[in-house]
Amino acid sequence: MAEKFMEWEDRLSVGVPIIDEQHHRLIEITNNLYDACRQGGAIYEGFTTALHETVDYVGYHFGTEDKIMRRINYPDYATHKKEHDLFVKEVLKQMHDYENDKTYAPHALVRYLKDWTLSHIALTDLKLGSYLVNMKKAGALEKIIDLKS
Ligand SMILES: [Fe+2]
Repeated sequence: MAEKFMEWEDRLSVGVPIIDEQHHRLIEITNNLYDACRQGGAIYEGFTTALHETVDYVGYHFGTEDKIMRRINYPDYATHKKEHDLFVKEVLKQMHDYENDKTYAPHALVRYLKDWTLSHIALTDLKLGSYLVNMKKAGALEKIIDLKS
């Protein structure tokens, strides 16, 4: 079986089911994007579709994290949100470049997505996860947010 472009690893778990599930899906979507990218073709039709799906899902996922952070008055909210915002800005810029110039190499975009996602999860999201897990241990979370949904 062909090796996957991105693979889930246990070390990426932030300890919060809803976030972990969405990260799983994000990895799956990035793999689809990579597959579409490899298929190539004159106009990369599949790539454009997969790219839009990725951008939509990233927006949805960041929305979930944003909601959680605001609900708990997360102290690092501004830093975390800034990372999300800069990432969205960069991906939209690259998507725009791609859509306006089909010769643009989509591989660079897919690689950027992978590298950013892995480092963001391993540092920034993990920090948020630990904060939530500690709140939960202290019994301060249940009333604010249900981590299972
Ligand atoms: Fe995040």
